[in-house]
Amino acid sequence: MINAVGRPQSILVLGGASELAGAVVARLVPERCRTVVLAGREGPRLDAALEAARALGAEATTVRFDATDVSGHADFARDVFEHFGDFDVVLAAAGVLGDQQVDEHDPASAAAVMAANYTGLASALVAVADRMRHQGHGRLVVLSSVAGLRARRANFIYGSSKAGLDAFAQGLGDALVGSGVGVTIVRPGFVVGRMTEGMTPAPFATTPEQVGEAVARAITTGAAVVYVPSVLRWVFLVMRHLPRAVWRRLPG
Ligand SMILES: NC(=O)c1ccc[n+]([C@@H]2O[C@H](COP(=O)([O-])OP(=O)(O)OC[C@H]3O[C@@H](n4cnc5c(N)ncnc54)[C@H](OP(=O)(O)O)[C@@H]3O)[C@@H](O)[C@H]2O)c1
Repeated sequence: MINAVGRPQSILVLGGASELAGAVVARLVPERCRTVVLAGREGPRLDAALEAARALGAEATTVRFDATDVSGHADFARDVFEHFGDFDVVLAAAGVLGDQQVDEHDPASAAAVMAANYTGLASALVAVADRMRHQGHGRLVVLSSVAGLRARRANFIYGSSKAGLDAFAQGLGDALVGSGVGVTIVRPGFVVGRMTEGMTPAPFATTPEQVGEAVARAITTGAAVVYVPSVLRWVFLVMRHLPRAVWRRLPG
């Protein structure tokens, strides 16, 4: 259970090798989050995330999870909750940026981005939310993005997938009111890290560590929506109302 000072003792990460998830785990484990289950695609990145969590002192394990394996999500959720017991936090971190130049001309690649970021992840969250509803406590943290607030010409495939995920998470949060389970939507801006490697940082760029800190704080406070950095809440309040002719010229 999340203890009296708001610290979780167990976390399940969907997209267990994610760099941002790693930063969250690095914040939570030293504050007594001992059980860390990293659900992801097998490979060296997942192995490295497992080692990093263990090095922090966590009892960490990996389990197989593919966000796009929709037909396996009910079994995945049943097995992971039956095997490990309750989770205080489930962090939905799986996602791909895609390549807008390719995706906007290739239906299969566009659909792959949408499946990983939205339809597939939402399917997994439906399965996991039912388990959390049953346990009657805990927090679902969903890594959305400011890119989903208003789709940009330069990355509308990714942006639209995040818009779908974000809307889904808002609705899920409403559906879970009264169940003991809360939902936190995290909307980072540009994070300097693996996903954005080689790209020019956007204004108000942030770091994985800042995202980790913001998520840890949100779990303690039970915040429903978090921007990283927090100033983006106000920046996007204005940006969302820019005339379209200006908005579509914004660089990637
Ligand atoms: N970095 C940013 O600038 C930024 C900004 C805003 C929001 N976000 C969001 O934050 C989340 C984490 O991003 P990150 O920066 O930590 O990127 P990352 O290090 O690339 O992590 C993304 C993870 O998602 C996993 N993944 C992708 N498709 C999957 C699938 N079908 N099934 C299971 N796992 C899958 C990847 O697994 P593999 O290791 O197997 O490839 C990878 O470990 C993403 O949802 C991203 O959209 C990132």
